[in-house]
Amino acid sequence: MKLFVDTANVEEIYKAAELGVVSGVTTNPSLAAKEGISDPENYKKTVQEIAKVISGPISVEVVSIEAKDMIEEGLKIADWIDNVWVKIPSTLAGFEAIHKLSDQGINTNQTLCFSTNQAILGAQAGSTVVSPFVGRLDDIAQDGMAMVGEIVDIYRMHGIETLVMAASIRHPFHCSEAARIGADISTVPFGIIKKMAEHPLTDKGMELFLNDWFGSKK
Ligand code: E4P
Repeated sequence: MKLFVDTANVEEIYKAAELGVVSGVTTNPSLAAKEGISDPENYKKTVQEIAKVISGPISVEVVSIEAKDMIEEGLKIADWIDNVWVKIPSTLAGFEAIHKLSDQGINTNQTLCFSTNQAILGAQAGSTVVSPFVGRLDDIAQDGMAMVGEIVDIYRMHGIETLVMAASIRHPFHCSEAARIGADISTVPFGIIKKMAEHPLTDKGMELFLNDWFGSKK
């Protein structure tokens, strides 16, 4: 399973790239707004900055509602950088946009996916990747990870090539579970990547090793 970083914060992305643990980035309008980005020109500049350090896919979301507007917006976004995945919501209009954009060779990320049936529709429409939102389903007392597992099983059973990216990841356990269940990618906030690295026994072990090593020189 690959790890993507789920943020529009350029510093975090540069740091994650330095660590060598992420191979792509996902952004969305809320993440962009959090960084003070709320117009296409600034969004474009930020995405181009990100593309300087990340050679893998960078997801950029449309903010239109009608299919024709999503397609128009998606075509513009596809020109920003080489490795873009245009994020399109899981609506009827979205499926039409995914279909028409993928027919033109543009990679799409079916976002806001909350059911296996939505994932089946997106794959038929030709989406490059589907993003089932785990944490937001958990929030309403539904099993988000079970949905990821179901989508993985169905895609594999039917030889569907659309990738499965576990999204709306809230804690490190979500991440290891997504890997165990067979997701192709997990997109993870930078804070959770840091938590994935932490273990109290690692800290304690380092303290012991360093005390023994430097203590023996006194
Ligand atoms: C995915 O592509 C989304 O940007 C993201 O994972 C949403 O996560 P949230 O539910 O924490 O906002």
